[in-house]
Amino acid sequence: MPSNLTKAVIPAAGLGTRFLPATKAMPKEMLPVVDKPAIQYVVEEAVKAGLKDVLMITGRNKTALENHFDRVAELEATLEKKGDHEKLEKVNFSTDLADLHYVRQGDPKGLGHAVLRAKMHVGDEPFAVLLGDDIIDDRDVLLERMLEQQQTRNATIVALLEVDPSVAHMYGVATVEPTDEDDVVKITGLVEKPAKGTAPSNLAVIGRYVLRPEVFEVLERTEPGKGGEIQLTDALQELAGDESIAGGVYGVVFRGRRYDTGDRLDYIKAIVQLAVDREDLGPGLRPWLKDFVGELD
Ligand code: G1P
Repeated sequence: MPSNLTKAVIPAAGLGTRFLPATKAMPKEMLPVVDKPAIQYVVEEAVKAGLKDVLMITGRNKTALENHFDRVAELEATLEKKGDHEKLEKVNFSTDLADLHYVRQGDPKGLGHAVLRAKMHVGDEPFAVLLGDDIIDDRDVLLERMLEQQQTRNATIVALLEVDPSVAHMYGVATVEPTDEDDVVKITGLVEKPAKGTAPSNLAVIGRYVLRPEVFEVLERTEPGKGGEIQLTDALQELAGDESIAGGVYGVVFRGRRYDTGDRLDYIKAIVQLAVDREDLGPGLRPWLKDFVGELD
């Protein structure tokens, strides 16, 4: 069943301090994953799921983001003159990808606050939120399944991933009950970054949400939580506890490949994992990687 949702919201106002000094003068979303900025993977994922209307929540020093998805006349003219159509196509691809809109977050008051900045643009319809740090392999299906569940259940849908209990404290973690579908659970509780050893399960929220517009009213009254920030997880916890607001909260358990580009070690792993499978780079990288690994202690 194709979804009739059209809007995606991508919060991209974070400072990216984990990648300093690389992110001193450049947004973290522009860090290349192989040869594309991380943010382009996320926009491509939204568009592939039918969400062509993309609102980015940005902040200061994010002009490179807007430039990446806009025309660059000089470069286009130079490539045209050279007859380098392959590169020209790559340049134009990100320009024509989506119908992009931007709003600034202003104060960095947390993810919930960033999502609330989308209220005017989104209006009174369900929408998706995609966090830029998480890249979902485009050979695996997640967002389409979430959109389909949103339509069927008319509820709020979040993406969940089974994680090792030792890292659960880095995520929002869900308490769940089974449904009649193997990859879908009903969420009865959510806690943002529980203290080590206290997570209610090993099902972590990864950065994909399909929300109903009622979430805005809830976010407006959500008090600062973990880290003094307005947490999206806290608003979702309220929605999970009171089905009358927005039909309850369900989780789609993702069993595919997800890369975390917000963490330096996982960022390096993501580049290697994606590059070994590429037709242009894999044949050169794979044998080298085997030799290199063979020589490690
Ligand atoms: C955010 C959310 C958290 C979620 C995570 C997924 O945290 O607040 O609930 O598990 O994204 O990547 P952040 O990683 O931005 O601190």
